[in-house]
Amino acid sequence: TRPLKVALLGCGVVGSEVARIMTTHADDLAARIGAPVELAGVAVRRPSKVREGIDPALVTTDATALVERGDIDVVIEVIGGIEPARTLITTAFEHGTSVVSANKALLAQDGPALHAAAERHGRDLYYEAAVAGAIPLVRPLRESLAGDKVNRVLGIVNGTTNFILDRMDTSGAGYSEALDEATALGYAEADPTADVEGFDAAAKAAILAGIAFHTRVGIGEVHREGITEVTAADIASARRMGCTVKLLAICERAADGRSVTARVHPAMIPLSHPLASVREAYNAVFVEAEAAGQLMFYGPGAGGSPTASAVLGDLVAVCRNKLGETTGPGESAYTRLPVSPMGEV
Ligand code: HSE
Repeated sequence: TRPLKVALLGCGVVGSEVARIMTTHADDLAARIGAPVELAGVAVRRPSKVREGIDPALVTTDATALVERGDIDVVIEVIGGIEPARTLITTAFEHGTSVVSANKALLAQDGPALHAAAERHGRDLYYEAAVAGAIPLVRPLRESLAGDKVNRVLGIVNGTTNFILDRMDTSGAGYSEALDEATALGYAEADPTADVEGFDAAAKAAILAGIAFHTRVGIGEVHREGITEVTAADIASARRMGCTVKLLAICERAADGRSVTARVHPAMIPLSHPLASVREAYNAVFVEAEAAGQLMFYGPGAGGSPTASAVLGDLVAVCRNKLGETTGPGESAYTRLPVSPMGEV
């Protein structure tokens, strides 16, 4: 069987780990897929930053030319941000290439249009890594639970804020002190706004609500409140009530089934709830489905290797689809339900 050719767009923390695992696990991947997969090119902005172990002959700064080459079977996009990622993904579909992306911001903003483009060209768009890193969520919700009816999704989907709230809870630290610790340990970025103000979690909530309810939720339709106003006194009083405080992404289907809601805000959770046990920078998503009952998905939500694990799982799925001349669920598998601002709670 001829090898399937993969173009890697972006070779930072995640991309270099994807490339490394593709090389070291080449035999296993070939066995899972039914054909070898070969790294055909790696597009980066600064070639001098590419880590050791990647053949310099594969490295290019011309991502467009790589995507337009004509012999690429799958594009893996781990650049992040809206542009040039969006144009490159669209170009890939136009050239008959399927795409695996880890791009939460892009999927939250333009998911429906990208899915529609993929479907128009009979190609796949998989993005397990865009929500909660290594935790399998997108395919379980989109496929494994597609015969069930999900009514509610409660997620701790931002590791940085969970780390901060956990520190405040366990050590009695104030918000700024806990944020400083998160920064020192490399969880929080130099500008922590996207995390602490809930923007990152809101993007994930939009994606999660969309796949859980087979509908479309725009990021602007997600009510958002971050953790910057949470005080040590709030946490202490939650404790006195047998609760802890978590930043939750809450996605709900209205009781009449005619609308959905998605929101992100700090919430008190009873210590007896499984989500209360999610410590440090871990993520977890609690799903309530009609037939399945309650499920919890737990694991590392960020980091090079965990995110690469999700990307490679998607790569295997997309390659199998390609060999079987089929695709996963496309845009037409989604129906549209109105999004109501705050739900019924
Ligand atoms: N900043 C994110 C977090 C990284 O803290 O969870 C993963 O999207």
